[in-house]
Amino acid sequence: MTRLLVLHGPNLNRLGLRETDIYGTLTLDQINDRLRQYAAAKGISVHPVQSNHEGELIDQLHHAQTTYQGVVFNPAGYTHTSVALRDAVAAIDLPVVEVHLSNISGREDFRRVSLIAPVCAGQISGFGWRSYLLGIEAVLGCLHEG
Ligand code: DQA
Repeated sequence: MTRLLVLHGPNLNRLGLRETDIYGTLTLDQINDRLRQYAAAKGISVHPVQSNHEGELIDQLHHAQTTYQGVVFNPAGYTHTSVALRDAVAAIDLPVVEVHLSNISGREDFRRVSLIAPVCAGQISGFGWRSYLLGIEAVLGCLHEG
């Protein structure tokens, strides 16, 4: 069975409470439940992990190489700052799709730059929690298009 890691970065544990006008009212648990249901209906499995710590996110990406077939990754605030996370994505040989709930291209200037996206298969941004569904589809597309 295809197994995907869904990796959530810092502050995403506060979804549903945090800036709901931007990020929506669903909690991270509710989003993860929807992703699990979506995956089950497709006959794949998703494994959500959230961390507020850069090193833990790096360890999770390294671990993914031997455990998963692809990664849906919301690096959150680290998107715009972390060379180390970019290097971690570049260091693994798996399709990684960057996702964002909000449209980072339409927000503050500092959010318009992603250090991570250039080493990902692609980026999906602006569709709320459904960005993760699109991310799953994008990773599956990478796996099945040879
Ligand atoms: C985010 C966008 C980032 O700029 C921000 O720092 C986040 C969430 C999003 O999903 O829209 O924490 O990654």
